[in-house]
Amino acid sequence: MKDASLTPRFPAMLHGGDYDPEQWLRYPQVLEEDIRLMQEAHVNCVSIGIFSWAMLEPEEDRFDFAWMDAVIERLWKAGIHVILATPSGARPHWLAQKYPEVLRVGEDGTRNLFGGRHDHCYTSPAYRERVRIIDTKLAERYASHPAVILWHISNEFGGECRCPLCQAAFRDWLREKYGTLDELNHAWWAHFWSHTYTDWSQIEAPSYKGETSVHGLDLDWKRFVTYQSTEFMKHEIAAVKAVDPSLPVTANFMGMYAYGLDYYKMGVPLDVISWDAYPEWHAPWGNHNVAMIESLSHDMMRSLKKRSFLLMECTPSTTNWRPVSKLKKPGMHKLSAVNAIAHGADSVCYFQMRQSRGSTEKFHSAVISHTGTSNTRTFREVTSVGEMLERIQSAVYGTTSPASAAIIFDTENKWALDKTCGPRNAGLDYFGGIQRAYHWLWKNGVTTDILDCDGDFSGYKLVIAPMLYLFRGGIQEKLRTFVKNGGTLVTTAFTGIVDETDLCFLGEATAEKLSDVMGYWIEETDALYDDERNAMTWKGHTYALQELCEILHPTTCEVLAAYEKDWYAGQPVLTRNAFGSGTAYHVASNAPVEFWDAFLEDIAGDLPRALPAAWYAQHPLPETVGLTWREAEDGGHIVFFQNYGDAPVTLSLAGLPTAVDLETGAPFDGETLALPAFGSAILRYPQS
Ligand code: GLA
Ligand code: ZN
Repeated sequence: MKDASLTPRFPAMLHGGDYDPEQWLRYPQVLEEDIRLMQEAHVNCVSIGIFSWAMLEPEEDRFDFAWMDAVIERLWKAGIHVILATPSGARPHWLAQKYPEVLRVGEDGTRNLFGGRHDHCYTSPAYRERVRIIDTKLAERYASHPAVILWHISNEFGGECRCPLCQAAFRDWLREKYGTLDELNHAWWAHFWSHTYTDWSQIEAPSYKGETSVHGLDLDWKRFVTYQSTEFMKHEIAAVKAVDPSLPVTANFMGMYAYGLDYYKMGVPLDVISWDAYPEWHAPWGNHNVAMIESLSHDMMRSLKKRSFLLMECTPSTTNWRPVSKLKKPGMHKLSAVNAIAHGADSVCYFQMRQSRGSTEKFHSAVISHTGTSNTRTFREVTSVGEMLERIQSAVYGTTSPASAAIIFDTENKWALDKTCGPRNAGLDYFGGIQRAYHWLWKNGVTTDILDCDGDFSGYKLVIAPMLYLFRGGIQEKLRTFVKNGGTLVTTAFTGIVDETDLCFLGEATAEKLSDVMGYWIEETDALYDDERNAMTWKGHTYALQELCEILHPTTCEVLAAYEKDWYAGQPVLTRNAFGSGTAYHVASNAPVEFWDAFLEDIAGDLPRALPAAWYAQHPLPETVGLTWREAEDGGHIVFFQNYGDAPVTLSLAGLPTAVDLETGAPFDGETLALPAFGSAILRYPQS
């Protein structure tokens, strides 16, 4: 089904990226040449102004828009659209000099010096006011310009500030949430170690120099940081929308691995979700694993609004901030772009259009390198992506892929897991568990939404909740209803242990712990050393188990497999419970991906895949290949075939209907599809 366009003023697959002409104002010939090269690279849109504050407002209330006027006019004449940024991601010297409160205070209680970027206090009234002024000026001048299609609010929100203003705002937020200190002391279990709060002023953000032992405080602080960052973002959105409410807003996120912010909450005020993807291609753990991990983030970004999203940044070849900066090998750039589109991206945009000449990002790759020429491999690969986007646009733009499966990834759960203090401080592999459960779904093209506890699970057939330690937001009732109505739920070790403020659930088998749905209760949990393994045998195969082993008391569940080692050998590890019209499975340990592949094939083999299930039954997919799809307007499948191997593979497509190769427009009725190393193909199949 086609959704409304992300950028109604220019409804198209976007190709372009971050462009920083303010660094090049002394090089007018470069600015001219940029336009020619962008056109040659099939660039149709660039993001400007992201770090331009000092050049737009060189001193307080003295504005210089002449250079930006000229840049926008030049772009517009060349048919290139503009994503206009608010410049709050980095502030000018004069601002920090005059209003020192705009700089952040760290955990040690000292204020940062000027430097870097993303160093603003999100509470500071002075910062908010200066941001409001510059955002309003930009909106008044450019929001109705036909070239401008989208607001890019700030840049990669992130980080924390512990200044007195933020601490006071945190206390207000807590007062609003708990009402009384008695409630707060209970929710945080603060009588422990005599940490009872007797006055609101005693509350401080957690710090390595002070309070680290109150887990409820820790969680609430992180929630507050998301809240306050979102309030800051909303303040910026209000400033630009006050001038022209018709121009949509986005903020560039950082996918699943952004630590400090809860994007499920932060995405709500945005019109469009966008994110910056920097997969570690050619890393030692294998490109198909890199692709799977990347796909999780793409799926999460699509799930935030259940519609297509923008890939706001990726690198044309290499980054410069990893320990080792590897070039993308030939073909990998396009393959990486195809993966993003396959999961719902309606753009391929880059950091950066022209490589900066000095300072920290001078060795980050760019569409236009220091050589200033189009005669580079990177430029050619970028150009071929631009051409591809033009060719596939009419079939792909705005489509999504309806998901039949969901994985619960909850940011608050992640924060809580990092602070459990037992049973394994050596590490609880929350992301690893999600990846192992996702692998089969990804590879087979079973579209999977990534939702948090606030999600609506009613439309899915399968919900997997790996290590959902913290239950919040009424998740128990939602999962209970989901299973009762016929859904299949899978949980893993260390699920349903604490409530939303990190207090352990009391009692044996209780509804709070979802024991009725799962059919067991947990007596205790053994932790394994990194190299230690237990084992279970299921359907004739033995799988090694690691990390955690729960000791369960079955109440109504069947036992499908038992531990094979240690003093709890013979006790249940894999269980199944019939509940209402559905089924709940539990894996009481950490099982390997081979188990998950076989298990999901068994319990979820009938879910819609990229290609018909009968095809998969006859054609085991090579390890390096993944298939993903978007639903065409007529209900057919647009299938993205991706080979992440450095050797070619040939797939047999015999028996499938004639498709259209979207890159050539030609019919594809071949019996075999040859994919070169790092190769891809995009075939549209008719509705079956
Ligand atoms: C982030 C930022 C960009 C740039 C790139 C480099 O995504 O938003 O400004 O620093 O990283 O990879
Ligand atoms: Zn602050």
